[in-house]
Amino acid sequence: MILNKTLADASAPAKIILFGEHFVVYGNHAILASINKRINVNLRVNKTRIITIRSNLGITASYADSRFNLIKGGEDTKEILDPIYKCVSNVLSLRKQSFGIEINLHSQVPYGIGLGSSAACCVATVAAVDSLFHKPNRGWICANAVESERLIHKDSSGGDCYISTFGGLIYYIRNGRSKKIKSKKNLTFIIINTGVVHSTKELVSSVKRFKYNERSLFKKLSSCAEDICQNALSAISRGDDKKLGKLMNENHMLLQQLGVSNKEIDSMINICIKNGASGAKITGAGGGGSIIALVPNDYKTKIISEIKRNGYESISAKIDYDGLLVH
Ligand code: PMV
Repeated sequence: MILNKTLADASAPAKIILFGEHFVVYGNHAILASINKRINVNLRVNKTRIITIRSNLGITASYADSRFNLIKGGEDTKEILDPIYKCVSNVLSLRKQSFGIEINLHSQVPYGIGLGSSAACCVATVAAVDSLFHKPNRGWICANAVESERLIHKDSSGGDCYISTFGGLIYYIRNGRSKKIKSKKNLTFIIINTGVVHSTKELVSSVKRFKYNERSLFKKLSSCAEDICQNALSAISRGDDKKLGKLMNENHMLLQQLGVSNKEIDSMINICIKNGASGAKITGAGGGGSIIALVPNDYKTKIISEIKRNGYESISAKIDYDGLLVH
């Protein structure tokens, strides 16, 4: 295949999971939204055969014939950058090319806080590399990004890559027909970072063990989660924030039973509810990471200042409707 350019630039949004995390891995629906925080990837082709990946999160590595070479960063650098390298090498091998590429990642969200930064990096990287050859196709990009993301955790539902590629608010199901949701109202969420980096892989494995050891309880929780998700879909379409908030609290209780919450997360959720949030829950794998709170406009300032007073960082987020952008 012929190169049609030597520089490329793409960006993909981070995400929140409103309903259904973990259960989505086993075939339930989930409701996901992409948010107005992006991961930008720009790259330059060179004449070496080395792939160099540099991130604004302070890590850099190069790969020569698949061999990892740490340039800057800690012990987790390889785990973070391997999927990105896989995105690059897969596309190059599919396009029967073997040139060098220098890649710069710029993320507006930290790694490991449940906002899907690694999926967004994979989506934007696949798109940027493939755009060197032709106009990229979103479905193809998403499928290839999921494959690389499965290096991080092999059971990935694929939801993070899907929402990051297509954007908006989505009623998602693994291996099925996902659909866009029209929200009657503008939903405003506050995202609060616990400051504890989580490992999605470990949390997904712990839920897998729970499912195995507590078969009938897991089945019950899973069926409640599916009901909650369906009710949430109709609450969003009706613009019923009160109901939506209540369903978020119920969803959080299921996550507590799965064992992915902890005292700190629960106390942050209580702060939000006590100060006027309609509902709050873990978003993503849990065990740290982030929580989201659905907040009526009148209470936004109060909740943000209470969160700050308790020593946590909050991010106000709007839903992003663009998804992947190849610039
Ligand atoms: O915490 P995150 O952003 O990695 O989200 C993981 C979401 C899970 O449902 C726990 C796993 C998955 O593959 O859907």
